[in-house]
Amino acid sequence: MGSECQLVIQALASHHQRANFHCGQSALDRYLHKQARQDEKRRVSRVFVATTQDDPNAIVGYYTLSSLSIELNELPTELARKLPRHPIPAALLGRLAVSLTAQGLGIGRMLLADALKRCLAVSDEIAIYALVVDAIDDSARAFYEQYGFRPLSARARRLFLPLKSVQPAP
Ligand SMILES: CC(C)(COP(=O)(O)OP(=O)(O)OC[C@H]1O[C@@H](n2cnc3c(N)ncnc32)[C@H](O)[C@@H]1OP(=O)(O)O)[C@@H](O)C(=O)NCCC(=O)NCCS
Repeated sequence: MGSECQLVIQALASHHQRANFHCGQSALDRYLHKQARQDEKRRVSRVFVATTQDDPNAIVGYYTLSSLSIELNELPTELARKLPRHPIPAALLGRLAVSLTAQGLGIGRMLLADALKRCLAVSDEIAIYALVVDAIDDSARAFYEQYGFRPLSARARRLFLPLKSVQPAP
């Protein structure tokens, strides 16, 4: 796949070929192969896939979004003290993966940017304080940290980024 390919990011649909997807992390492959469609149907997760204009059925990357709340004491003190004393609404990017054949071309960055864009749009209607991500390993954690994600306390691989830091306050 060439870096000049135009990427299309959209909701997972039945024409997408989930079984051919391999990213080097079997848990993330298995999720797309076996569970993603069910989670969509049960409305417990939204799954977005990246394809190219050349082959609209072949998945080159995907991510999942759902909602969660953050306990105030999980946040760094300097942020927590500015927030109300109850659980804080957030969005969870539970999984993010790029096909082995397409890694290193900027698709992971584009998927993350797309997820942030969707969260910002939703947060105009339903409050979202931060995007939370679950990094599958230390390498994935380094990927997120370069974009400003910081660890939530007690869980080294659960990181967060306040949406305020990607959009100026109204
Ligand atoms: C981690 C992953 C999503 C990155 O996707 P990608 O398309 O290969 O990454 P990109 O090409 O968009 O890279 C964007 C930037 O991140 C950097 N980067 C990529 N992987 C990185 C990593 N593991 N650690 C640190 N930085 C990383 C790139 O060098 C690039 O930096 P630059 O903008 O300065 O050139 C992909 O390698 C992957 O799917 N890995 C297996 C599954 C996984 O680990 N998922 C992570 C979330 S659970």
